[in-house]
Amino acid sequence: MKKLPFSLVVLSLFSGLLSAQNPDPEVEKKAAELLQSMTIQEKIGQLCQVNGAYGGIPEELGKQVREGRAGSILNEVDTKTLNELQRIAVEESRLGIPLIFARDVIHGFRTILPIPLGQAATWNPELVERGAHIAAVEAASAGLHWTFAPMIDICRDPRWGRIAESLGEDPFLASELGVAMVRGFQGESLADKGAIAACAKHFVGYGAAEGGRDYNSANIPENELYNIYLPPFKACADAGVATFMPTFNDVNGVPASGNPFLFRKVLREDWGFNGFVVSDWESVRQLTVHGVAADNKEAARQATLAGIDMEMASTTYADHLLELVEQGAVPEAVVDEAVRNILRVKLQLGLFEHPYTDPSDFPALANDAHRAVAEQAALQSCVLLRNDGQALPLEAGKLQRLALIGPLADDPYEQLGTWIFDGDPQHTVTPLAALRTALGDKASVQFVKALETSRSRSQAAFPDAVRAAREADAVVLFLGEESILSGEAHSRAHLGLPGAQLELIKAVAETGKPIITVVMAGRPLALGPALEYSDALLFAWHPGTMGGPAIARLLLGLESPSGKLPVTFPTTAGQIPMYYNHKNTGKPATEESYIHIDDIPVRAPQTSVGNTSYYLDAGYKPLFPFGFGLSYSQFEYRNLRLREPAVSPGDTLVVMVELANTGNYEAEEVAQLYIRDVVSSIARPVKELKGFQRIRLKPGESRTATFHLPTEHLAYYYPGKGWMAEPGQFEIFVGGDSDTGFKVSCEIR
Ligand code: BGC
Repeated sequence: MKKLPFSLVVLSLFSGLLSAQNPDPEVEKKAAELLQSMTIQEKIGQLCQVNGAYGGIPEELGKQVREGRAGSILNEVDTKTLNELQRIAVEESRLGIPLIFARDVIHGFRTILPIPLGQAATWNPELVERGAHIAAVEAASAGLHWTFAPMIDICRDPRWGRIAESLGEDPFLASELGVAMVRGFQGESLADKGAIAACAKHFVGYGAAEGGRDYNSANIPENELYNIYLPPFKACADAGVATFMPTFNDVNGVPASGNPFLFRKVLREDWGFNGFVVSDWESVRQLTVHGVAADNKEAARQATLAGIDMEMASTTYADHLLELVEQGAVPEAVVDEAVRNILRVKLQLGLFEHPYTDPSDFPALANDAHRAVAEQAALQSCVLLRNDGQALPLEAGKLQRLALIGPLADDPYEQLGTWIFDGDPQHTVTPLAALRTALGDKASVQFVKALETSRSRSQAAFPDAVRAAREADAVVLFLGEESILSGEAHSRAHLGLPGAQLELIKAVAETGKPIITVVMAGRPLALGPALEYSDALLFAWHPGTMGGPAIARLLLGLESPSGKLPVTFPTTAGQIPMYYNHKNTGKPATEESYIHIDDIPVRAPQTSVGNTSYYLDAGYKPLFPFGFGLSYSQFEYRNLRLREPAVSPGDTLVVMVELANTGNYEAEEVAQLYIRDVVSSIARPVKELKGFQRIRLKPGESRTATFHLPTEHLAYYYPGKGWMAEPGQFEIFVGGDSDTGFKVSCEIR
């Protein structure tokens, strides 16, 4: 029971004071000097980001740069062109301010890592950091200085295509991994060779778009905004992320690109952010389309006043800002501040000292070391969702004929996923190629594509697939979604396998052979029907360049799967939103309270189906909970205990648990720690992730995992009051997924 009245522990966690990024006096001095020498036109020029010409410099672009009318170029990756654009800026513009070159390097540059949602399934910040680092080195070697990543939008809706780019549904996991990406991109210092500026996007609530329809409105009450959507952004700001990008949509009615609350109040005032904010693609001009600005001039006014420092692609700043300043509608001080923010990052990147790029100073693109990181990330991202009768791993020793069936077994492009502008399928190793290499002449591998793409409906080739299955000792189907079905503006209302893929599994399953299904997709899918016919199912996301060797190692048992879901898998789209950290409600469903639609007696009285929160036809549980993932081995959690059962605010709670590998394989487990505030002055989630550890154990081995939990990690944002860990009882859960009931109680004094 809580003590009343609450003695509230107001934490500094979210006050700006502690988080202000430390300014470097040298950088500030240089920026101020430059600013003083700039004309208003040159200042406005710094605020304009212009799209490149994809190789070559059209006359107008050269002129813009020469006249100081562009501060940044995006989407140019040809090193010669980049260096020439930079030469024009540095040598031919009046002040010689270098350009900053940007590109979406989302999950790799040439070496493609798993999609971010797949990387999130590794629950491995160190590996995610290494992945971002190799992406940065490759991008920097081409001449880029800045990526529009990480995307840390919390997403509870798999219909939204951009869930593929997200780090999932949980604020703690997304914070840890988002920060890891920032560290990987930016290195110790932005001035390091191979470091590029990162961008925390999309501030904030893009993932909350209504119905999962891209760009749609987000309505987010204050408690959800602070407790769910803002934390990853705060974590990245604290980690020193250089830039921020607004979301396209309106948040509670105000489009983010004209939202001073988000950028002036939360980001600058509360959090002390001192990098710069770039708009999203034409999102300033789109203020007119949202219907909050009558024309482009008004859009420019709203965006600059809201704190959008640089405008991407549209030209409302270039066209109207001068006039707005002259008319006094935008104070010149606002422009100065935006320019200073941008110059600061350019100075931190060392662009003034080293404006040009020589690729020979860098390791080769897609080199073996980079590919090894991509393979490790793919390996740890795969989540084993079912393994009946130990259908996996395949016993290579006994295997003579393997049948690989399906549109995604050997498609070098489709396994790369969305946002792979600079990826090259020629570097891809597919599962078919990898399994052939791994098995050599020990076993034959027969491949039948069966469907041209994941969307195909023609069943003409099914007899070939069935024949191959009949002749084989083992059958692996490679199904899912091709890349184009997820990503920006690629929402889906149905979450089943597209095309005739389900029919394909059914046809192959009729052979009576055990069916192993590998699914590649950019989002959680409603896999129930596919699971009915699959003895084992490995969910591989879009695993990237080295997906093939990673999957081969898992199928052949050279490594045990260790990925865990970073997002809940619903049984059907009708259950959405379905996420683990929901509130209990006053009438939670239970095993006993749930009655399936088929079991309701005819003309049953209204209350006979109970009064709890569930769907008559889809229950109350998801298909797989957040954090779920099987291993070839088994793990047991034992002896969960606290160093001290009660702690005071400011102390650290120490939680210990013994993890034992009781199975037959050396394997890794992600031990997850959740809390629950038993009684709180506002309803808190039934579970909140607050810690995780990836632990490798040999068969029979056990180890004590220790979690350190500062009491501020138990805090919650209470509207009108701020961040607090209210005194009283908390439950601490530890286990292999969010369904764990293994718990111990503690008290905050
Ligand atoms: C996306 C951003 C991206 C930008 C530049 C927009 O459509 O929303 O995430 O960084 O394009 O390519």
